Amino acid sequence: MAPRKIIIDTDPGQDDAVAILLALASPEEIEVLGITAVAGNVPLDLTSKNARIICELAGKVDVSVFAGCDRPLGRDLVTAEHVHGKTGLDGPDLPDPMMPLQDQHAVDYIIDTLDTEDAGTVTLCPLGPLTNIATAFQRAPEIVEKVQQIVLMGGAYFEVGNITPAAEFNIYVDPEAADIVFKSGVDIVVMPLDVTHKALVTKPRNDGFRALKTPVGVAVAEMTDFFERFDKEKYGSAGAPLHDPCVTAYLIKPGLFTGRHINVEIETASELTLGMTVADWWGVTDRPANATFIGGIDADGFFDLLTDRLARL
Ligand code: RIB
Ligand code: CA
Repeated sequence: MAPRKIIIDTDPGQDDAVAILLALASPEEIEVLGITAVAGNVPLDLTSKNARIICELAGKVDVSVFAGCDRPLGRDLVTAEHVHGKTGLDGPDLPDPMMPLQDQHAVDYIIDTLDTEDAGTVTLCPLGPLTNIATAFQRAPEIVEKVQQIVLMGGAYFEVGNITPAAEFNIYVDPEAADIVFKSGVDIVVMPLDVTHKALVTKPRNDGFRALKTPVGVAVAEMTDFFERFDKEKYGSAGAPLHDPCVTAYLIKPGLFTGRHINVEIETASELTLGMTVADWWGVTDRPANATFIGGIDADGFFDLLTDRLARL
């Protein structure tokens, strides 16, 4: 089977970095057409720099990286240095990138790519706030029906929020953008905290990264060593949750995951629950299903896949 053509939309972020590495290590299943950076974990100048740092760490300097929106559609930017550190990639000491940022704006790149590629052949993989995707859909509505699928990390239901009591960070930062995407009619697969909090980098798993004895393996071990602090302190987790790599792993081995096709709507009005993903998991409304909401993962299988693929870089 031909590899899936994807655009990774991202706000690196250590977990974004691992997701990008997994994608770049899996050419049989994934063709990364381009990487578009968005403001999120840290401001755009850092997310667009970090995306290139990761491509160079992977030895893939020919990947096109684009800078996109530097703030949400209609709100001030909220960042997460308290989780990811000042640089967004705290942990390993990685060199500044030599590869260039593309001149084209990320939103224009997304539009042009969907306009040019055959309809139904490009998957969008948002790993941060949905600002770039929503802006592209607003600016060029004709591309919406050409999207093959959106596989995104965001939201929460049983796990509730990680940035407020009700909301997960990616959705909270730009709830209006999320509302546009979830109402777009595109086939959406959602990796919420409900599943990503089951993908924890325990010490044996972290040791497995380090045991690769490669720059990539050691860097991933150092990244996850750093960003586990937040979740260990807040949740008592056994290690860092690999949120964004669940998106890439799903493209490679969807059988690792289980979920339900349900209705998911975004709270955009209430300040108390702003950014909440209201997931009708129990089917108590007649609202139409618009997303496959993932809740289960074969965590050992996920980490076996991840470690095997990182060993290739
Ligand atoms: O809530 C977790 C999500 O927010 C992840 O994508 C992480 O990288 C941050 O963007
Ligand atoms: Ca992210």
